[in-house]
Amino acid sequence: MAAEEGQWVLMATGRSPTNIAVIKYWGKRDEALILPVNDSISVTLDPDHLSATTTVAVSPSFPSDRMWLNGKEISLSGGRFQSCLREIRKRAQNVEDEKKGIRIKKEDWGKLHVHIASYNNFPTAAGLASSAAGLACFVFTLGKLMNVKEDCGELSSIARQGSGSACRSIYGGFVKWCMGKNNDGSDSIAVQLADETHWNDLVIIIAVVSSKQKETSSTSGMRDSVETSPLLQYRAQTVVPERVLKMEEAIKSRNFESFARLTCADSNQFHAVCLDTSPPIFYMNDTSHRIISLVEKWNQSEGTPQVAYTFDAGPNAVLIAPNRKNATLLLQKLLYYFPPQDNDLRSYMVGDKSILSDAGLKSIEDVEALPAPAEMKTPSQKFKGDVSYFICSRLGAGPKVVTDESLALIDSVTGLPKGV
Ligand code: ADE
Repeated sequence: MAAEEGQWVLMATGRSPTNIAVIKYWGKRDEALILPVNDSISVTLDPDHLSATTTVAVSPSFPSDRMWLNGKEISLSGGRFQSCLREIRKRAQNVEDEKKGIRIKKEDWGKLHVHIASYNNFPTAAGLASSAAGLACFVFTLGKLMNVKEDCGELSSIARQGSGSACRSIYGGFVKWCMGKNNDGSDSIAVQLADETHWNDLVIIIAVVSSKQKETSSTSGMRDSVETSPLLQYRAQTVVPERVLKMEEAIKSRNFESFARLTCADSNQFHAVCLDTSPPIFYMNDTSHRIISLVEKWNQSEGTPQVAYTFDAGPNAVLIAPNRKNATLLLQKLLYYFPPQDNDLRSYMVGDKSILSDAGLKSIEDVEALPAPAEMKTPSQKFKGDVSYFICSRLGAGPKVVTDESLALIDSVTGLPKGV
């Protein structure tokens, strides 16, 4: 180590997106290594709307590893963080910062401690795969600081050990997590199927559904399903392998009809597995079911899918439209049933707010004047307050280094999170 011993702080900052599975991951065959019972496929969302930003700092003056999430100190002692730290540290290389006169030899990394500060640009508790973005960012940014040379496949395998679905957030666009066969997990890695430009007219609208109910965590829910659901075995062995091939083909050929049918069917089967678990797990609620009904009736009335839906381990709806036109029609139908509680339309739409004006919705009066969707048989009842807010997004890129030092979350002098 050079520079005056103990006087320096070296940092790296990265930003990683979240992802949403269209072929679901549900069930581990190895709990410790986080090895899944089936392949899964996801779309990576635009990091401008849904991402984690993480700064990792190292200094000889740090007496221990510490982490802050959204400004609050959290424990790093959990197995998921420890596995990722250990795996990245193992691969650390020499680092030289000529400007600062800092040289770290690879053998010194084992003696140095890190401070990590992370921030999610969306509510962490909203059930929007924050741990996928968070653990991918953790691994990616540690890797940058420690000059790790491993490729994305290897990084995805490390991120997987932090949080299974985090391995898919190492890439942008369309991503497949290959379950692998090896007992040591070495072939359970993510690969990119196509980048975010391949099918860039897709529009994603997320309905963040209000929920007072405490949900079953994915970790314990999955464990219960593996132990008790016969449907999970059938799904993993018979349904998903074929579905993954069809989904890859649909993505490659940008076949929205096939993409949407597979996405909806897979979401529904995942929730059927949850119901088939003993005791049964209910992730969706009445609002989720109403949104499914709305989309299904619209799709049926047109004779071909207009929009796809998918639900993770929570009540939020992720809706994927093939283009802007369908996204605006969808928004009109959604806002007819789920108008904003406080009449504030601008704060009801997060992310790409321009979808509102595209849908002709400039004020609350425009929402109130929306006609009932023609395909719905009982259109009269509305459900104000049942959706907390909407997010409009699109496909996005994988993790990136944040070069603007003013955006670092850690103060380069104190080595502590800014504002702490
Ligand atoms: N869990 C949820 N968000 C996270 C983040 N940004 N970093 C690490 N773990 C997380």
